This record gives sequence, structure tokens and C-alpha cells, in this order.
Amino acid sequence: MKRYRFIIQRFNPEVDKSPFFRGYDVELKRGGTVLEGLFYIHKYIDPSLSFRFSCRGSVCGSCAMNINHTYRLACETQAEWLGSRIRIRPLNLPVIKDLVVDMERFWDCYEAIRPYLISNSKPEREHVMNPSERQRLDGLIECILCGLCFSACPVTSLNDEYLGPHSLLKLHRFISDTRDGSERHDLIRQRKGIWLCRSAFSCQEVCPKGLSPARSINRMRIKR
Ligand code: FES
Repeated sequence: MKRYRFIIQRFNPEVDKSPFFRGYDVELKRGGTVLEGLFYIHKYIDPSLSFRFSCRGSVCGSCAMNINHTYRLACETQAEWLGSRIRIRPLNLPVIKDLVVDMERFWDCYEAIRPYLISNSKPEREHVMNPSERQRLDGLIECILCGLCFSACPVTSLNDEYLGPHSLLKLHRFISDTRDGSERHDLIRQRKGIWLCRSAFSCQEVCPKGLSPARSINRMRIKR
């Protein structure tokens, strides 16, 4: 067993005036993840600690948070990679409680790009893609919508209107899909979209699936 000091931002808007940090001593087995550290605290020290998780396998994106100043998934981050002091904050979104944030703005941005296939013909039969058409979607369809890129992006916190890297990656995904018949040029051209990106590439640095929304944005700028 190895001991760690977890320092976690706590905040219950119903009780606290402002967020504060509280430290917890946590014991984890070799290979133990930050999420397992949070389970330890919840079970043995403080059951009032709130955080989200579901799959525990880097699939659902629920456990996204800021860990030692980098946005990461808690379930895929091993505590021993980080040293003995582990500082945890929520995503850069309004806090509901502790590490649980309100994702409404994130989902509103996503909805704005119409994230579904739109056919411009009657679906009389299945629309089959050939292998190269399908291959064009590699690097665009693996996004798990965890919110790490949205929180790391320097523009989303400065401009409330910006659609954010997750939405623009998905926009590129639908534009690149041969089954989609809709004209999405209005979405590409809109002021709060690709032209607000400052190419900081923070989205690419934190994406747990190795995707690059910034590269998608640059490609859409060239193609527009
Ligand atoms: S719990 Fe699902 S991605 Fe971490």
C-alpha cells in the first residue's frame, strides 16, 4: 500500500460562501487510480464528497476533472504517476457540488451543431459506406464527450458564445460523413464557431482519446 495526500476542492453552494481545499490521507494499492482514491475517501473518511463516475474504464467521460493542474479522467490516471500530493479541482464549469459540475452550457453547444445524420433523400434503403469513406471518420468518431477539452480551452472561459472544441470536432465528423446530406455551411461560417479558436491546441493536449479538435477546426477553415 502507498499513502497519498489528496487535496480536493470542496464547495456546497447551499452551505459554503466560497470553495475551499481539504486534505485527506489515502492508501492505495500499486496501480490504484485517482478515482479509487476518491472511493476511499468517500467510504472511509468523508461520505459527503461528491463526484461523478460510471464506467471506470475511460469510456463514459463522467470522471473528468482537474488533477494536478491538468484536465484528465480520474479512472485512467494512476496515483503513482503524480507523486504523493494530488490536488483535485472540478472542470471549468459552474459547480453543483464539490467535483460535480453543471454541464448545461457544454450540451447546449453540442446540440447547436445538430449532432446527428440528416438525410436529404427518403431513406428507401440502407446507405452503405465504402471502406475509404468510413476511414475518413477515424479520429473524429472516438470522442466520448467528457468535457476535458472544453475546460482546457482558453477561449471557452473568455467567450460564452464559443461552441467549444468538442462541438467543432463533431461538426467536422458530420461534414465528413458521406451519409449526411445536410448543408452545414451555416454552422461552419457562424461567428461563434471555428473563427474564435486561437489554435492553442490545449484540446489536443488533454484529449484522453488522442483526438485533435484544433486540427479539425483548421481543416474546416481551409475547406469553408
Ligand atoms: S468513469 Fe467513465 S470515463 Fe472515467
